[in-house]
Amino acid sequence: MTHQSPPLVVELHRSGRTVLVPPALTVLEALENVGVAVDSMCRAGICGTCETVALSGTGTRPDHYPRPLRLCTTAPGTLTHLVLDL
Ligand code: FES
Repeated sequence: MTHQSPPLVVELHRSGRTVLVPPALTVLEALENVGVAVDSMCRAGICGTCETVALSGTGTRPDHYPRPLRLCTTAPGTLTHLVLDL
């Protein structure tokens, strides 16, 4: 069995919803799975269409917030908690 990251907890600041992102999914996929619409195109971190402001976050490395985040390439790993401006 391979090591898996813990799920990432994503809070949606404007709607007040909380979504759990399992290790195998990106934030974009997990949001789509629960019916949260986010515009996307390339789904590879290139075009910037899915870019959303992360208001705060917690993880294993220090990051400065608020900061833009491409949801199609953000997955559980170094991040354990995120608050998005959605
Ligand atoms: S959809 Fe293109 S960067 Fe995310």
